[in-house]
Amino acid sequence: MNSLNDLIVQYNSCCSQLNFPEEPHNLYSAIRYFLEGGGKRIRPVLCLLGNELFGDIHQDSFHAGNAIELFHNCSLVHDDIMDHSPLRRGKQTIHVKYNVPTAILTGDVLLVNAFQHISNVQEQYKQQIHALFSATILQICEGQQMDVDFEKMDLDQISFPDYLKMIILKTSVLLAASIKIGAIIGGADLQQQAYLYDFGKNLGIAFQIQDDYLDAFGEPSVTGKQPGGDILENKKTALLIKAWERSTSVQKKELLNAMSKNKGERVAAVLEIYKGCKVDEWATGKISQYTATAFNCLDMVDVPFKRKENLLALTNKLLVRQS
Ligand code: IPE
Ligand code: IPE
Ligand code: MG
Ligand code: MG
Ligand code: MG
Repeated sequence: MNSLNDLIVQYNSCCSQLNFPEEPHNLYSAIRYFLEGGGKRIRPVLCLLGNELFGDIHQDSFHAGNAIELFHNCSLVHDDIMDHSPLRRGKQTIHVKYNVPTAILTGDVLLVNAFQHISNVQEQYKQQIHALFSATILQICEGQQMDVDFEKMDLDQISFPDYLKMIILKTSVLLAASIKIGAIIGGADLQQQAYLYDFGKNLGIAFQIQDDYLDAFGEPSVTGKQPGGDILENKKTALLIKAWERSTSVQKKELLNAMSKNKGERVAAVLEIYKGCKVDEWATGKISQYTATAFNCLDMVDVPFKRKENLLALTNKLLVRQS
């Protein structure tokens, strides 16, 4: 078995070998620029780990890992247009550095390339992986639409279960599918695949709540994102939904007032309220709760404990992530 660090290094080296044409220069240089930003690469690594639970890593897990990572990058380039985000991974986003049309096309090319990598996997399970991958991407589009729709909705109209539904679609299903695809390649039976899917889904919920937390409270030089981007975009994050739920009617007015301040003052004003009602502590608790549920799902997987150690290590690493 490989160590977790070995697998990260192996996947990074695989990803760095991806080739793109030279022309049109603006399109392919945008793709290279974005992929060079790196990122944590947790989804392809989850795919490798899902495979390794059941046996040696097959080359197909690298093909599937590439597909997953390329699609993930597509979703980020398009997400940054939707969210008006100027920064990602500490660098200018594509629509800012290039322009919106180039960012749309960059995402499109990454999506098509993703499917080309799926077509490299063995016939034996290609159809199952293709079906899971396509269904997952559709769910992500649905989740992203809900996220955008929520921006315009009043806080009274959105509950925590609504938020959960949205983040499961926009974020969790890709983590869940990543590990399941690895398990399929490793030869896991349907029951083990289902436990792992649930593991990934709960891990994904914890992951998105932490993403919301870091957007508000993270150190921008570490997150590589604009500070308070979600507050500026009126995103219905876990923090905002909980702060609203905890507020009296007077406090609700204060929160709405803070949210309507000019952009220069808004983030600090909203963060002050978040801290006042301790939603930061609440979010940390929720992250632990969903991570614990993920661990319970992993317990159910019928492989020797030794084989699960890398997944446990990755999950523990995510719990303390700052970016
Ligand atoms: C960002 O994902 C988008 C979310 C689903 C929150 P990551 O935090 O995995 O982004 P990178 O790839 O590491 O930059
Ligand atoms: C993004 O959620 C989810 C997808 C890209 C599908 P966010 O909008 O919160 O992700 P970040 O914070 O920009 O990375
Ligand atoms: Mg978004
Ligand atoms: Mg975003
Ligand atoms: Mg975010």
